[in-house]
Amino acid sequence: MSIKTATMHGVSTIEIARPEKKNALTVAMYQAMAEALVAAREDAAVRAVLITGQPGVFTSGNDIEDFMSRPPGQGSDGMDSPVFRFMRALLECDKPVVAAVTGAAIGIGTTMLLHCDFVYVSDEARLAMPFVGLGLVPEFGSSLLVPQLMGSRRAAEKLLLGDPFTAEQAVECGIANAVLPAGEVLHHARRVAERFNTLPPGAVRESKRLMRSPQHELLLKTIATEGALFAKRLRSPEAMEAFQAFFQKRKPDFSQF
Ligand code: COA
Repeated sequence: MSIKTATMHGVSTIEIARPEKKNALTVAMYQAMAEALVAAREDAAVRAVLITGQPGVFTSGNDIEDFMSRPPGQGSDGMDSPVFRFMRALLECDKPVVAAVTGAAIGIGTTMLLHCDFVYVSDEARLAMPFVGLGLVPEFGSSLLVPQLMGSRRAAEKLLLGDPFTAEQAVECGIANAVLPAGEVLHHARRVAERFNTLPPGAVRESKRLMRSPQHELLLKTIATEGALFAKRLRSPEAMEAFQAFFQKRKPDFSQF
């Protein structure tokens, strides 16, 4: 199974483990991660969640083959697709979520970090949100959260140009807490997650909710608007050209659009 889960010392760990495809996320993997998050929320013994990848790669984002062959539906059925279930479970998780970004975090690999509470990044990691270059649009609140975090100028570089950025830049622009040497990032993130074993869980839960509540409704509305556009764009000729170019290992040609 390409998602490994384990609970130890009060921490539920979700490990993305599909290194041969750079941890690209399939429908089945989103489903497994959604279930793990829901289980962690319901288990009183779990005080925090840790999401991690493999050495050198956190995740290369949505599996592009799946994007082509099994895109999420365009209507309300799309909102019930495994990727939506995973992101909804992440948004609704009232326990602290810590990410150990062990390497490249692309597309939803970076988007999901916006919804984690603590983000620690390996000094070798590169992050990117290359949606526009794939004929797509930002997703799961990133069109709202990225400009809020770093200002519209830097957000335009990352969301409109899709420029990749380093671990240091991720800290500078507020996406990550700290950069760690590659060999230490998981250990450090786990230590932070384990600190919640000694804190009162009710106060942690209520505080997390308070920190998120001011724009919760706006965030949900943004996610629905982005989701409808994203699903439509997945079926667009621009996206088809970008996906085919990826598998043919060539640059996409958008000159005909
Ligand atoms: N979906 C499906 N397959 C993917 C993938 C993805 N998102 N990312 C990588 N893979 C596959 C490659 O097709 C390749 O498969 P192959 O060995 O059968 O040819 C394998 O994983 C290794 O990837 P490769 O590109 O050769 O590795 P790399 O080290 O040169 O580059 C990345 C790593 C992550 C920079 C590069 O794979 C990449 O840019 N991936 C796509 C990222 C992306 O656009 N994600 C979607 C965002 S919405």
